[in-house]
Amino acid sequence: TKHLLGIRALTREDIELILSTAEQFKDVLQRPVKKVPSLRDVTIVNLFYENSTRTRISFELAEKRLSADTINFTASGSSVSKGETLLDTVNNILSMKVDMVVMRHSASGAPHFLAQHIPAAIVNAGDGINEHPTQGLLDALSMKQALGTLEGIRVAIIGDIMHSRVAMSNIYLLKKMGAEVMVAGPPTLIPPYIQEAFGVKVVYKVREALEWCDVANVLRIQLERQSQPLFSSLREYNLAYGVSRRLLDGLKKDIFIMHPGPINRGVELDSDVADSGHSLILQQVENGVAVRMAVLYLLAGKN
Ligand code: CP
Repeated sequence: TKHLLGIRALTREDIELILSTAEQFKDVLQRPVKKVPSLRDVTIVNLFYENSTRTRISFELAEKRLSADTINFTASGSSVSKGETLLDTVNNILSMKVDMVVMRHSASGAPHFLAQHIPAAIVNAGDGINEHPTQGLLDALSMKQALGTLEGIRVAIIGDIMHSRVAMSNIYLLKKMGAEVMVAGPPTLIPPYIQEAFGVKVVYKVREALEWCDVANVLRIQLERQSQPLFSSLREYNLAYGVSRRLLDGLKKDIFIMHPGPINRGVELDSDVADSGHSLILQQVENGVAVRMAVLYLLAGKN
């Protein structure tokens, strides 16, 4: 069975195939009837052990646009609270003739564990601090549309790199596609090994990153993954590392602004930047549906 567990295991050709398939589905989504019959014989469970707005709705919409049958499972309100294990939960759902599992979990590696124990195809919708592959792919599609190519573009990823599966999937993908990557933020939120291990540039001043890049992907501070705060206060974070209108006005060029959402307005990103003409944030969300259609379609072997 084929899975999408992370960008790390994909080749450049795999990524190009997913992005070109997503571009075709983008055309489908512009039509009056936004639906194709491709997966009408496929049943998919969306298994969310961690909160989500965009990813969960986007996968469900992608499945419906492909005519798949869908089931939504969220851990809260389920028998997880009675002590049922992940594997028991999934095996029970699969026994009802479910073919594919889309899964979000707070534990890094949870979908990889599941892939070793169940026969169904698994799509990772975010596992702990490890990867969020469909976010990396929708970010790539958004950058490709804005800049015409991924080859040679300069991408700054700004903020809480340490706890970010979005940063990891973006770094894996962008490096494979020939982009240049810089990370920027507080030293406490940037892993010390990242430059050597992944070939990305590191700076600790957001202004430097903005002056260097074509596109800035700004990340939320993930307080839910920090047992102890790694900076003094959100107000001070905004003053030292927030992306503001004033910072952008000081640049000698225009850059594109991205954010995976949810935004903490006034912390990592000011509202007048998030809502500006150079923001790709809602295009990212729009592209998410086409990218997830492409991933599900290719994994189901319908091409
Ligand atoms: N970008 C993203 O994963 O958002 P959600 O957590 O709302 O799905």
